[in-house]
Parts: sequence; structure tokens; C-alpha cells
Amino acid sequence: MQDPIYILGIESSCDDTSAAVSCNQTILSNVVANQDIHKQYGGIVPELASRDHQKNIVPVINEALAKASIDLTQINAIAFTRGPGLMGSLLVGTSFAKSLALALNIPLIEVNHMQAHILAHFCLPGAVPSFPFLCLTVSGGHTQIVKVTDYLSFELLGQTQDDAIGEAFDKAAKILGLPYPGGPLIDKYAKQGNAKKYKFPISNMPGFDYSFSGIKTSFLYFIQEQTKQNKNFIQENLADICASYQACLADSLFKKLLAAAEQQQIKTIAIAGGVSANSLLRQRLLDLQEENNYTVFIPPFEYCTDNAAMIALTGYFKSLKKEFCDLKVTPSAGYAL
Ligand code: KG4
Ligand code: ZN
Repeated sequence: MQDPIYILGIESSCDDTSAAVSCNQTILSNVVANQDIHKQYGGIVPELASRDHQKNIVPVINEALAKASIDLTQINAIAFTRGPGLMGSLLVGTSFAKSLALALNIPLIEVNHMQAHILAHFCLPGAVPSFPFLCLTVSGGHTQIVKVTDYLSFELLGQTQDDAIGEAFDKAAKILGLPYPGGPLIDKYAKQGNAKKYKFPISNMPGFDYSFSGIKTSFLYFIQEQTKQNKNFIQENLADICASYQACLADSLFKKLLAAAEQQQIKTIAIAGGVSANSLLRQRLLDLQEENNYTVFIPPFEYCTDNAAMIALTGYFKSLKKEFCDLKVTPSAGYAL
């Protein structure tokens, strides 16, 4: 039987400070400290995010160790998010991971945040996707269609050329006067709305690429025009606006995803990243399974948004291949998949 490998995962790419402990493929703890401070600014303020990471990182790691009933001396390796993300935020997690690995004299594993979002599917007991599968990774910073052929083999088939889908949600929410992050609120209001009431244009990019800056701008002009005629337009039609806008974003995502699945002849589809918490996206995937014979994988909410469980698990797969890094490693804000 394989000896247990305990990994401490550290995630600090954006505005959530998270630490997790894994034992082989099992997650023993996963602690996330959300930063509320950004709400009042309507978006993430990078300098404030890195300061909060500095405040949170020690208590979050201590809590993750305590919840896992694991002592630091039992940890076999430290995995951390090297990128992509905000440089100041990444620096906090990277520096901490490097110092701890040095102090404990244990290996250090650098993890690509986007790969980790995909591998979050393997944190769970029960059915996991079989290779090859397609993963639609949708977050506040990325929108990608990825072909996954093994735990650490990824091929990027398409991605957004401008805004990420999460930004398309959050910026529209801001235009509607909703607080940050607005994605979950659009999702909430959309539940009571008529998705067919308004239409917003979907940009058609070559291949499997996406673009969301056009739909966001047309949304802004639409709201400006309507509120000129009726200053209560938003309040009176909030649910219909949210439902219609959300449906257009989902149409855009699924059109390319299905084209990629057909071209690649792959019938297994997973979704990952913060926006995979969206209820319409989840429902549309379930419909695909029911109506079109796809096998779909949708992670539970806690593994959709940023978390260190996915970092620890990716670290575990890398440790099996002895993919360790040295202490000269630096964060990479634009770390490609
Ligand atoms: O993956 P994530 O936690 O952080 C990044 O790495 O970006 O994703 C955060 C994004 C935000 O844009 C947030 O508005 C969006 O995920 N989000 C949602 C929902 N829950 C979170 N967007 C739409 N519907 C939701 N239910
Ligand atoms: Zn993320």
C-alpha cells in the first residue's frame, strides 16, 4: 500500500486566502477566508487584496492544519498557486510557501491555478471524469475550453480574447447598481425573470475563442437608453434583464463548447471555476446529459470558487511525478495553462 502523502496547499491568486491539507487524493481540510473589503469599491483593489492575504495567511493555514488534525512536521510537501492571478496577491502565497518549505526542509510544488480548477473534479469521492474530457473553465479572470488527456496534460482549444465571463457578469451587475461580485446576484434575480424578453448580441470569434467585451458594451448602451426613457427601468425589469443577459452569456458559452466537443468527438464535459456556480450553466449541462447523451461533471459549490483543496490535489499529482520546484521560483501573473 502507498504511504500517505500529506500536502499543504496554499491559494492566494486573487481575493480569497485559502489553505488545505490533502492526504493522497483525499482532502482533509479546506479553509477559505473571503475578503469583504472589496465590496465597497465595486471590484478587487489589488493592493488591499495583498494586504489582506498577509493578515489571513497564518490563521488560515493554522486552521487548515487543525481541522485536518495534522502537525506541520507531518506535511510532506507544500503546493502553492504560482499564477495566473494578481501579482501582489500571488507574491504573498509564493513567499510564504517558499519560506515554509525552506524552514521544514520539504519539497515545494508550484501549481497553475487554471489547471487546479480543472483538477478540483478529482477531489471528490465517487465518479470522476474519464480521460479525455473537455473542461469549460469559467472564472473572474478566465474563460477557456480545455481538452484534458491526463491529470497533468492539458490542451487549450479556445479562450476569451478580451473580458472573462465572470467580468461580463460582474460589470453588468455594476451597471445595474448591484454590489461586487455581481455574478451570484444576476443568477439570483434571473430565477424570477423572462429570459426571452431582451436580446444581446453574441460576438462570433474564429475557432473556439470567445469575446465578451461587445455584449457588455451593448448592455451598457441598452440600459442607458432605457433609463433615459424610464428612470425606473432597472427596478421595474430587474429579473427580466438579468435572465435575458444571463441566457445570452450561456448561449455564447455553450455554442463554442458544443462545437469543440463535436470536433473533438468527446462526450465527457466538465465545468470549473467560480462561474460554474451559476445555476443556468449547471442546468444547461444537466440538460446536455439528459437530451444529448453527454456525461457531465459539475463540482460542488465549495470547489467551484477559489480554494486551496484544488491546489493541494494538483500538488499531489505533481508530487507523484516528482515535479518539484526550487526556491528561486517566482510568481507568474500571466502563467499560461
Ligand atoms: O474562480 P473565481 O472564484 O475567482 C477567479 O479566479 O476569478 O471566480 C469568481 C467569479 C466572479 O466573477 C463571480 O461573480 C463569479 O465567479 N460567480 C458567478 C456566480 N458565482 C460566482 N457568476 C455567475 N453566477 C454565479 N452564481
Ligand atoms: Zn479561480
